[in-house]
Amino acid sequence: MTIDKNRVLIFDTTLRDGEQSPGATMSHDEKMEIAGLLDEMGVDIIEAGFPIASEGDFAAVSEIAKMAKSATICGLARANFKDIDRCWEAVRHAKSPRIHTFIGTSPLHRAIPNLTMDEMADRIHETVTHARNLCDNVQWSPMDATRTEWDYLKRVVEIAIKAGATTINIPDTVGYTAPVESADLIRRLIAEVDGAEDVIFATHCHNDLGMATANSLAAVAGGARQIECTINGLGERAGNTALEEVVMALKVRHDIMPWTTGIDTRKIMHISRRVATVSGFNVQFNKAIVGKNAFAHESGIHQDGMLKNAETFEIMRPQDVGLSESSLPLGKHSGRAALRAKLKSLGIDMADNQLGDLFVRFKALADRKKEVFDEDLVALVSDAGAAEGADHLELKFLRVICGTEAPQSADLILRVGDKDERVTATGDGPVDACFNAVKQVFPHGARLQLYQVGAVTEGTDAQATVSVRLEEDGRIATGSSADTDTVVASVKAYVNALNRLILRREKGGSDRAEVSYKDAG
Ligand code: KIV
Ligand code: ZN
Repeated sequence: MTIDKNRVLIFDTTLRDGEQSPGATMSHDEKMEIAGLLDEMGVDIIEAGFPIASEGDFAAVSEIAKMAKSATICGLARANFKDIDRCWEAVRHAKSPRIHTFIGTSPLHRAIPNLTMDEMADRIHETVTHARNLCDNVQWSPMDATRTEWDYLKRVVEIAIKAGATTINIPDTVGYTAPVESADLIRRLIAEVDGAEDVIFATHCHNDLGMATANSLAAVAGGARQIECTINGLGERAGNTALEEVVMALKVRHDIMPWTTGIDTRKIMHISRRVATVSGFNVQFNKAIVGKNAFAHESGIHQDGMLKNAETFEIMRPQDVGLSESSLPLGKHSGRAALRAKLKSLGIDMADNQLGDLFVRFKALADRKKEVFDEDLVALVSDAGAAEGADHLELKFLRVICGTEAPQSADLILRVGDKDERVTATGDGPVDACFNAVKQVFPHGARLQLYQVGAVTEGTDAQATVSVRLEEDGRIATGSSADTDTVVASVKAYVNALNRLILRREKGGSDRAEVSYKDAG
């Protein structure tokens, strides 16, 4: 097999490192959907979860392993046999499985399992050997590598390679390194480590100082051939390297960075929006590549330049990331074919029955809005996904009285199971009144962790997208919805979150057992 020395593998960890960030928990179905989109967009390796962490994580990793068409499916495991065995159980049915095992090697991390340097070296040898006996494809990571003493890092990387690791990942776990160091470290490992030529070096950067993308690209310049990243840069604290940033940087600046990926960049926008919706982490407006303003031109000078030649102010075409130019505005006279074509240009393929459903909702929206923009359509698609779980509770009717005089009141009909119930409730503002009404019909002890509203497009007829996150006994459920009426979108998102919580109650258990990175021997 010939290996293209300029090919960089994209390892996506949205479903593991991304989902691990506080509050970003995704449901099983959402994980399946995101994994499917990652596979379709050409991600080489999907880190689907941490199988020992919970029954839910195990189930998600094993189902993704069975479902993936072309990506390698990887699970995470700490440096002990129990974790590694559980990980293998979850990934073994994949066409191409991988075990990823790690241990913290820096002085601070070595102190946690209280192992001497020699004891840790032995542990690495044993656990990587064990993983390799189960699976041909083993990735090993010295967590906090960038704060590990050079001599020790070199020693443990050599041990992992000798024990059979096929990928060596060098994590900048706390986002501490800088681009020059990132490149030098990989270069030095490749030059000085025995057996370096037999493995692929990977880079895994966190964004605490805002340097994750630069550090990842620098590592590639130093010889790394796998970038670990997440959609929208989701992840612990300030997040991980953003997939869309490294991929587009390599594409746009191919002149100075002659490396390629297998990503179909036209799928970026859709998956970015789906991850934002299901995680409840909105993308900041000025976020590179996927922010709402990334291709927006406001000032007169910029607009004038754009009209004459788009290259005056754009270094990449919106179409390259899956944004279509609105040359075919959609409105209430548009038909099914136009809707399908527009969705296709946005990288969204839909089965006929799903399209039929969406078409009805599109027409209803077009009746209320002059023009339906790309963003509206994506919100409608997301909303359809959200509605799929909405079986136990359903909003049937809502009338709100609000104004300068408090309290505001909500008159609402909620279907609970097969019965419609009507109540009136008051509250501090219209949304509070509505949520009180829902709670009156369907009493629950869930705590509202997040209530977030965004406008999909400009204008007073814009759709509002609302995310609601609820927590009950360690279970977290995020609901979302979009509507031209912000209060209606809020209630639908709240009801959607409750439906998801009900599903989780039925399945039992909490989302994730407490697992720490402390090495459980
Ligand atoms: O940031 C990190 O070090 C990690 C490891 C588990 C690879 O996510
Ligand atoms: Zn990480």
